[in-house]
Amino acid sequence: MQRSPYTPGEVTTFLPGRETHMRRLRSQMQHVADEGAFIARPRVYVGSRGVGKTSLLRYAQKVARERGLATVWITAGDAGLLPVLSAELQRLTRTWHSSAAQEIAALVRNLEFSLSIPGLGVSSGPGQRPTSVEAPGQALEALIGATASALHKKGGGLAIFIDELQAADRIALKALAYAWQHLRSQEGDDLPATLIAAGLGHTSDVVTDAATFGKRFEFIRLKDLSREAAYEALSGPAEGLEVSWHHRAVEAVLDRANGYPHFLQLWAHAAWEAAGSPDPGGTITAGAVEASEDEVLEQLDVFYRTRWGKATPAERDLLRAVAQQTSPTPRRADVAASLGKPTTAISMARRSLMDKGILDSPGRGLLSFTAPGFSEYILEYEGTED
Ligand SMILES: Nc1ncnc2c1ncn2[C@@H]1O[C@H](COP(=O)(O)OP(=O)(O)O)[C@@H](O)[C@H]1O
Ligand SMILES: [Mg+2]
Repeated sequence: MQRSPYTPGEVTTFLPGRETHMRRLRSQMQHVADEGAFIARPRVYVGSRGVGKTSLLRYAQKVARERGLATVWITAGDAGLLPVLSAELQRLTRTWHSSAAQEIAALVRNLEFSLSIPGLGVSSGPGQRPTSVEAPGQALEALIGATASALHKKGGGLAIFIDELQAADRIALKALAYAWQHLRSQEGDDLPATLIAAGLGHTSDVVTDAATFGKRFEFIRLKDLSREAAYEALSGPAEGLEVSWHHRAVEAVLDRANGYPHFLQLWAHAAWEAAGSPDPGGTITAGAVEASEDEVLEQLDVFYRTRWGKATPAERDLLRAVAQQTSPTPRRADVAASLGKPTTAISMARRSLMDKGILDSPGRGLLSFTAPGFSEYILEYEGTED
């Protein structure tokens, strides 16, 4: 009996299909660590929940550490992001006994002070900013600049990772965009720093709504896995334990998971257990996949039901309308028209469903569900109720 090597619901370090992204991350971290480079464009990996964003971001953090960079990891959410970020930056300097540590502590207080003044962080025109106190963006610029330069003197650099960026508060997004925009122009200084984030599919809307400089962020969409990569995701971990998948079993899982990493892990894990958690030399057969089917379908039912349960009645109308379209990526305007409404009338429900990770916008003016099979679920079980 060997424990399943699959990772449903957990980040994974085995990332087939992401080789190009991993290569770029490695060369970027090398650039920062070896040449003291400031990476001018924050990079944001966007995509559906369950597509593998956090796993890739953790990989980037691992590479940064191996390169000797100091790393800060934040998951955006309920609390304001800037207080958490400044506390993390100060934590990096906790063991230092230099004047740099004192300077950074002062800059942290400065940032916290700028946040304590109501209205300061909220979008105000350049002319309206008080002159005696700094706005959070300026305070953050100074703090990050001082931290990166102090780390550089110690032979390192700074790598900041922010997960769930779409959930960050506007003040923080604005300040981050401002700080990064201004730090890039401090050319000639050695400011080894990089900012890498991940967020749901509409993160670019959220960021550019909050900050004009947000356009300078680089948004990279993570897609579902190709059949080849999905095949590797199944066979790789099994091979490591000297277990093989029968080709019909592989086909069965690939057909069911549709390249969606979250489902792939669920099916693979269940098949592994249904095969009796094989010893080295064992095989996973199509029979094992079949035997695990009821259990997985039950989990998928919970998965869909939970998402449906999060939607308000108005949002459910929109979900049904999307499910009824023939295209898997219908145009927003067509969906609205099928409800007899102008496009603007569905924009609130659409945004809310994106924040909840149920709907995605795979391209300009397009809509899609974030998980395969949700459309069928709605049409089959929920389309005619309530
Ligand atoms: N490249 C990959 N191949 C196979 N499985 C993956 C891959 N990336 C992530 N996973 C798996 O997919 C699921 C979702 O991963 P996670 O990184 O949490 O996604 P996200 O942050 O986008 O929600 C997890 O079960 C994880 O183990
Ligand atoms: Mg995640």
